[in-house]
Amino acid sequence: MIIEPRMRGFICLTAHPEGCAQNVKNQIEYVKSKGAINGPKKVLVIGASTGFGLASRITAAYGSGASTIGVFFEKAPSEGKTASPGWYNTAAFEKEAHAAGLYAKSINGDAFSKEIKDKTIELIKADLGQVDLVIYSLASPVRKHPDTEVLHRSTLKPIGGTYTNKTVDFHTGKVSEISIEPATEEDIANTVAVMGGEDWAMWIDALKAENLLAEGATTVAYSYIGPALTEPVYRKGTIGRAKDDLEATAFKIADKLKDIEGKAYVSVNKALVTQASSAIPVIPLYISLLYKVMKAEGVHEGTIEQIQRLYANRLYTGNAVPVDEKGRIRIDDWEMREDIQAKVAKLWEEATTETLPAIGDLPGYRSDFLSLFGFEIDQVDYQKDTQEVVEIEGLV
Ligand code: NAI
Ligand code: NA
Repeated sequence: MIIEPRMRGFICLTAHPEGCAQNVKNQIEYVKSKGAINGPKKVLVIGASTGFGLASRITAAYGSGASTIGVFFEKAPSEGKTASPGWYNTAAFEKEAHAAGLYAKSINGDAFSKEIKDKTIELIKADLGQVDLVIYSLASPVRKHPDTEVLHRSTLKPIGGTYTNKTVDFHTGKVSEISIEPATEEDIANTVAVMGGEDWAMWIDALKAENLLAEGATTVAYSYIGPALTEPVYRKGTIGRAKDDLEATAFKIADKLKDIEGKAYVSVNKALVTQASSAIPVIPLYISLLYKVMKAEGVHEGTIEQIQRLYANRLYTGNAVPVDEKGRIRIDDWEMREDIQAKVAKLWEEATTETLPAIGDLPGYRSDFLSLFGFEIDQVDYQKDTQEVVEIEGLV
């Protein structure tokens, strides 16, 4: 079977099994090349199949030899359809990990549900006893609340007024103006319900109630801040309210973990091309300018570089974890450097359909986007027939 990218709007409907596998291998090689981290030993990653969560799993396994359990929501291949990328990523990760003698098991289902929490708890009890790191890296447009059964949908809207700014269609390179109508109170509440901290706290409560968190265990969830430029649609919009809630939840969780000397952090990560971020208006234009500037300065990073640095230089240095005035870990430090932001702000003013090819990194954006689905990976021969991957080793 020859698989090609098939695009619909901001999503790609196909994924390439070997391309995804190669992506995972490249991330593994990167982590190995950076040397051992005196890090976690038994790790639960919630949202483990793509983006920052996958990088967190790979860094734990290959940086610190950790046993990992990954939870995610991915589609298996079906008649006439490839699997979703996270399916292929996980199949490749499990295979590599087992060949390297590492424990790895996976659970595919709705992490917001009680059923999947229970299933994870049973697996930890049976196989690991306890975990010493829980990474919370979900990005979802919907959440069915486990108690009320209400289906909440998150939105990406400004609060208080209409927001108008530039955006780019990264497929065509066309820069245009977009206006986004403000959120209602209901939009805000729904977005907080999906992307805020409630579910993270539910996971930690459930694990702790069963005594599955080791003495000194750490839990980390991921957040984003970004520049003034994107504030109306991100940090001061509906998703920002959810991130405020997530960040406040870190303190609540930290309090609950005091008796086991556990720690709860939010890590603020860099803006990167993932399935989640490419759906946010304005952000792709910002990212394409940011990539150009950060690459020129030699400080560009992808998800694996970010998370390897998070573990090696923040979480597991042997010293206290450095945090900002709001208690957050900052691994977005290079993105937020004053000189970098000043350059991006200037380019933003200049950005048009005509100037973007010279001042922005749209090819880098597109290539990162396609590589999320296993396309445009250097080492892969796309003319060659590819094998479907119907099974994930270690899937419980
Ligand atoms: P992603 O879309 O690559 O990963 C999302 C993960 O969540 C996948 O493993 C997916 O299977 C899983 N998932 C989604 N719904 C699920 C459900 N109901 N049950 C179980 N698993 C489910 O997203 P990305 O970008 O890695 O985002 C992870 C976190 O990082 C989010 O909190 C996001 O806000 C944050 N972040 C993202 C940044 C970016 O630029 N992409 C920047 C800073 C933070
Ligand atoms: Na993730």
